[in-house]
This record gives sequence, C-alpha cells and structure tokens, in this order.
Amino acid sequence: MTAAMLGGDARDPDPERAVVGTVTSGGTESILLAMKAYRDRALARGRARRPRHPEIVAPTSAHVAFDKAAQYFGMRMVRVPVGRDFRADVGAVRRAMSRDTVVVVGSAPSFPHGVIDPIRELAAAAGAKGVGFHTDACLGGFVLPWAERLGHDVPGFDFRVPGVTSMSADTHKFGYAAKGTSVVLYRGAELRRHQYFTATEWPGGLYFSPTLAGSRPGALSAAAWAAMVATGEAGYLEATRRILETAARIREGIETIPELRVLGDPMWVIAFASDQVDVYRVLDAMAGRRWSLNGLHRPAAVHICVTLRHTEPGVAERFLSDLREAVGEVRSTEPAKEGLAPVYGLAGTIPFRGMVDDLLRRYVDLLYRP
Ligand SMILES: Cc1ncc(COP(=O)(O)O)c(C=O)c1O
Repeated sequence: MTAAMLGGDARDPDPERAVVGTVTSGGTESILLAMKAYRDRALARGRARRPRHPEIVAPTSAHVAFDKAAQYFGMRMVRVPVGRDFRADVGAVRRAMSRDTVVVVGSAPSFPHGVIDPIRELAAAAGAKGVGFHTDACLGGFVLPWAERLGHDVPGFDFRVPGVTSMSADTHKFGYAAKGTSVVLYRGAELRRHQYFTATEWPGGLYFSPTLAGSRPGALSAAAWAAMVATGEAGYLEATRRILETAARIREGIETIPELRVLGDPMWVIAFASDQVDVYRVLDAMAGRRWSLNGLHRPAAVHICVTLRHTEPGVAERFLSDLREAVGEVRSTEPAKEGLAPVYGLAGTIPFRGMVDDLLRRYVDLLYRP
C-alpha cells in the first residue's frame, strides 16, 4: 500500500523495478537500514570500485538519524549547507560528491523547516554518478500524495522520479498508526537484500533477520495495517485537506506578527525566527501557555508541526492569539533564568562542542534518575 501511494509498483514482475520494502520500528530505523543497505551494496563491489570510506551526502536540514546511521555503521557524513530558502543546494551537493559517495539524501519535507528539497534535481545528480538517492518522506510520505490529489503544487519526490532508489515514510506519524512503525522502500529487491542480516555458522541455526531488531512486535505491524485500511484513501485525503487548510491560516497569522518571520516556503511544518526578540523566549512563553513547540538552532527558530489536533475548531485562532501575546510578553519583560532560552543561549556560545555533547548526555542521565 505504501509503495503504491508513493508511485511505486510492488507487483512489477521485474525484480529490479518492483518497489519493495519492510516495516520498521520508526523513521530512524528506516533511515538506518537504508544507509546500511547502500553501504553494504558498495562494499560488495570489486576492489577497484569499492569505497574506502562509504560516504553519505546530505543537506544540513536532513534528519539527524542520517548522522546516527553514519556513526553506527562507520560511514562518513558529508553535510552540505542549504540555500537561503532552506532547500538543498543542488550545485553544492553535486560538488560534495566523491568517489566514496554511496548515497545522496533529500527530504520531503525536512523536519526543521518543513520545506521540500529539489528531489528531481538531486536524484538526477546522484543517478548521473551511479549513486543511490534516498528521499526521506518520514514526515511527508502520508501527506504529500494526498496534497497532490487535492491540487496542491507538490514537486516530484517519490518513485515516479527517476533516480529515487529508496524512501522512508512513517506510518506512525501522518499514517495515524500507533507509535512504533515506519516503512522503508527500495527500488529493486537487490538493494533491499543488503539491508538483511544473515549468519550461516551460528549453532542456533541458519539465521536471518530483515531489520535491526531480533524478535519484533507483530501486533504493531498489524495495528499499522489496520490503521491504514481503516483510514483509507478518503480518510487520508480529508486529514490532509484539514491540516493544509489550518496550516495556511497559521502561516498567514504568523506572517502578520511584525516581530516574527516565517522561514522558507513551508506547507504544514512552519518554522519562524525573529530579528527583534529572542525566539527561544517566545518558545518558553508559549510553553507557559501549554503549547509544546520545537526549538531549532543554526539559525535560531521555533517550529509548529500542524497535525489533525490543530484542525479542531478554534485551535488555530487560539495558537495565533497566544503567539501574539507571547511575543508581547517577551518584549515587555526581562529574561527569566528558567526555560529553554538560557539553555539554547548557553549552548550557542560554548565553542567546545564536546562540552555541549557531554551536557546532553548528562541531561539524559537525569531523565533516567530513579
Ligand atoms: C523528516 C524526518 N525524518 C526522520 C524522522 C525520524 O523519525 P522517528 O522519530 O520516527 O525515528 C523524523 C522525525 O520527526 C522526521 O521528521
């Protein structure tokens, strides 16, 4: 179902054209597995064509799960700055590719700024060098196909685009399944084969496992299937219509607040920054009004990811009036010592990133304190 939604044909009799995949535990696992597949495919080549250090080329905006993959699988991550519109810079990506590049990445849309990378151009650049291309549609996989059907101008991002060789799409986000499932897809069964783990010599028997986990929760896969069938095409269309309508109203509302500026040209994940007030203090003032927004950095910004909850009557209006009030509060009061503003302020000024890294680890320790 996911392959069909994303322009692929799971039943194509040609095994190298058929779009195949697996259910995973979430967006991160889908991304980890795709990166492992590209690495292992490249390492299986003859010595002359094998990379010394398999490399992922990704815009700075691509999800941090790609860094996690690089760290876990001993790959090199090459991050490429995005353009002024927060979309991947195709020329810069092209220049960043080397003989060690095994995959290029683009997002549809990106987590921080909710913008869709120029997938067609990126995939063509990768394809021209015989390199794979992964569209991370963890956020957009279950929204963009329906947005397109509703008449929105959605640039090519899925398997209809030549050169797109894999995708991730999260059932547990806008697929409305319970947390714990996502789908990773490949163009061709050969690429998926490099995702698998197999062992032939273990006394426990001939062993294979398709994904990262050993034992897996079948109930979650079944529940995800049920959520998709129960929601159906009509359900996804209606949910997307409501989300995009509400998001457009929220975006327009933010644009009328003089202190704030929307970043890029987003659809339903809307990031805003400010040249006049500390945007992290706005984040804290919104938290005080019970809004749980995400703080972003480089550049400093805050985003709201519009979901079905926000489409309930009056919610968008309350968000905008709270946001106006929050900005006013920040303008008229002194900074507090609590909240995220001092944390982001401090983290931004420490030049030793190892220290910030250590602080993050100790923060996680605190979360596990008995
Ligand atoms: C674009 C994108 N990719 C990947 C992920 C990672 O997904 P997960 O948190 O399910 O591991 C997210 C999560 O928000 C995302 O927005």
